[in-house]
Amino acid sequence: MNQAIRPDTGTQALASCPLLSVIVPTFNERDNVLELFRKLDAALAGVAWEVIFVDDNSPDGTADLVRELGQRDPRGRGLRRIGRRGLSGACIEGILASSAPYVAVMDADLQHDETQLAKMLGLLQSGAAELVVGSRYIEGGSADSFNKQRAGVSALATALAKRVLRVEIADPMSGFFMIRRDRFEQLAPQLSTQGFKILLDIVATARGTLRIVEVPFTFGARLHGESKLDSMVALDFLGLLLAKFTNDIVSLRFLLFATVGSIGVVVHFLALFIALKIVGLPFPESQACGAILAMTSNFVLNNFLTYRDQRLRGLGILRGLLLFYLVCSVGLVANVGVAFSVYNQEPIWWLAGAAGALMGVVWNYAMSGLFVWRKR
Ligand code: GDD
Ligand code: MN
Repeated sequence: MNQAIRPDTGTQALASCPLLSVIVPTFNERDNVLELFRKLDAALAGVAWEVIFVDDNSPDGTADLVRELGQRDPRGRGLRRIGRRGLSGACIEGILASSAPYVAVMDADLQHDETQLAKMLGLLQSGAAELVVGSRYIEGGSADSFNKQRAGVSALATALAKRVLRVEIADPMSGFFMIRRDRFEQLAPQLSTQGFKILLDIVATARGTLRIVEVPFTFGARLHGESKLDSMVALDFLGLLLAKFTNDIVSLRFLLFATVGSIGVVVHFLALFIALKIVGLPFPESQACGAILAMTSNFVLNNFLTYRDQRLRGLGILRGLLLFYLVCSVGLVANVGVAFSVYNQEPIWWLAGAAGALMGVVWNYAMSGLFVWRKR
């Protein structure tokens, strides 16, 4: 046996690897953690299990509570992520942080039904399934806690996902499932870390190669705290559909960045017009005004929309803005350069203009991702 991994004599022997890791993404779920742990303990009697709470540095101190829990009971583990947000990304990292052959994903707020976990595990162990989905939309399941509006949105999203991505299960929008580790590890590199819908991503990415069984459950009411679902989640969802539909060629981020850029053009012309015609500034000053205003509004919109999961705050905003000015200035030189050389070959003004604009937006996008909103 390798000396390095043998436990010291006199200390407690290291626990063996659990059979099942339950991954629970959390953001401000402090009041739900202990209750969920108790319920898992009751539901998984006789199973070697652990739970990993993946917390995005919640201000309510969820991660501190999880650490205290872990000191008392090693089955309760925590993963604290700093400077990042996102349900899907948290689930992926949590799954990859364990070695258990089976992994489940469920919410912290007790809306999912932990009493189904033993049955789900049985289906995986027997080989009947490689992925078991907790489903609200099959016989025996329900989502009664939904209000009318949320039920409508959920039905629409489900129909859209099935149509566009040809996903065949009844509830691809569920956030409650269990999967074999080996199958997950194969798919993991292609999954999106943005957004809420990791199950849909897994099923769409697998393209029919996963053996899936759905088990019904009742989607309950949230125990404590508030839902984190907001209208921006819809944007992430459409982005996931688009990315999967185009085989990951078009990303939502790029599309948002380009849309923000088009808004910037409108801002530029508006500012130019006002400065020149209404305020009466000379042309060069007016043009500079337009450019600076457009870059600034692009920066603000990108910070709130395109990069909202990595949003810059405090002094980081100022630093980011200055870097963004720099990136865009170089982008403008590249834009004009490309347009000029295209025009030299083929004097078609709109073709040269479009080529330059495309060069500019691709450059700005690539460099902004590297320098302004770089992953920490
Ligand atoms: N780490 C992390 N980071 N966790 C997050 C984040 C985040 O940015 N956003 C939400 N969570 C956690 C919550 O703390 C909760 O444990 C779980 O993800 C689900 O979030 P809720 O805010 O409770 O969302 P919901 O109830 O509206 O949505 C649930 O229902 C959907 C079905 O309609 C989720 O389970 C979805 O996955 C599910 O599809
Ligand atoms: Mn919830």
